[in-house]
Amino acid sequence: MAAGHMLLGRRSECEQLDQLLETVRGDGSRVLVVRGEPGVGKSALLEYLVGNATGFRIARAAGAECEMELPFAGLHQLCAPMLGRLSALPAPQRDALATVFGLNGHEAPDRFLVGLAGLGLLSGAAERRPLLCVVDDGQWLDRASAEALAFVARRVPAEPIALVFAVRDPTETRELAGLPELVVGGLSDVDARTMLDSTIRGLIDERVRDRIVAEARGNPLAMLELPGGLTPAELAGGVGRPDTMPIGLRDTPAVTEADPRGTRVVVAGVSIQPDTVHPLYGIVKEVNIQFVWGYDPNEFAESLRAISDGEIDVTPLITGEVGLDEIGAAFDELARPGAHCKILVTP
Ligand SMILES: Nc1ncnc2c1ncn2[C@@H]1O[C@H](COP(=O)(O)OP(=O)(O)O)[C@@H](O)[C@H]1O
Ligand SMILES: [Mg+2]
Repeated sequence: MAAGHMLLGRRSECEQLDQLLETVRGDGSRVLVVRGEPGVGKSALLEYLVGNATGFRIARAAGAECEMELPFAGLHQLCAPMLGRLSALPAPQRDALATVFGLNGHEAPDRFLVGLAGLGLLSGAAERRPLLCVVDDGQWLDRASAEALAFVARRVPAEPIALVFAVRDPTETRELAGLPELVVGGLSDVDARTMLDSTIRGLIDERVRDRIVAEARGNPLAMLELPGGLTPAELAGGVGRPDTMPIGLRDTPAVTEADPRGTRVVVAGVSIQPDTVHPLYGIVKEVNIQFVWGYDPNEFAESLRAISDGEIDVTPLITGEVGLDEIGAAFDELARPGAHCKILVTP
């Protein structure tokens, strides 16, 4: 493995990438679409590939959200270093590529010619050394480039050319569908734990680590980001104690900082702003959240009857009693569910 690209796990993925390089060194061509959810490690695998492509000529491009509306921006990025070979292409292809790259003022050319020209350019570039083309963030390629590159990928001749894309899953980019794929999943639990141990400075409680591993589902980016939401004390095992626990639901009025482990939160109201939830804290505290929709008058009537008939005893729910002038303070008290449940107002 190349220095600076220490990957955890990924043995079979790296083997497949090694084989790809071997095939191309042996004069064959290979196309591969590395597919997976954000943060799963697609770019890291591309770096591994590039780091091991000794003797290859390397051409790189990356889709960019801000360039999605610019036709051929991605293709231009990939081909720019090879444009010196433009003159070697047959005239119609040369003109087509020169036009889409803004090198002449001609009318928009046939896309087929652009594809052929791309193919010709890559073949020329692979004449003296094997060529590795790496296109990251394929989901953000402009459509024209995605089409042209897919055209090239489906036709690469048996020459030493590798064309490797990374594409986020799920994606709108249909152009690359049907090409050979390497689907990247999460790291194993063992590798995930190793990664957490190596990235977190200071002590980490085993229980907390296991919960982070479970929530991250082996996604390395999640593993790097999740611990950032916890303080060193929480990482070291203070998480279970209500007094050190950050709130489970942020900005949700029903949940306050004092929620003990195992709290059941009933969300009965609708706020205008969306409530934000940080699942990790909910998981660590094993909070149950129940969303309920309003009740009709019959349900109220039935509840009142059950209370007056003594079927429901509400006295355990009443944790305080206040006069009219203390209502404001009572609401503050109710924000601490450990202290109060219902406060009776007696006018
Ligand atoms: N196998 C791995 N071992 C260690 N760190 C990894 C591994 N895969 C990815 N990472 C790290 O996780 C983060 C996200 O990976 P990245 O390759 O950018 O994901 P993607 O391109 O799929 O969105 C990066 O910081 C990367 O260095
Ligand atoms: Mg990436």
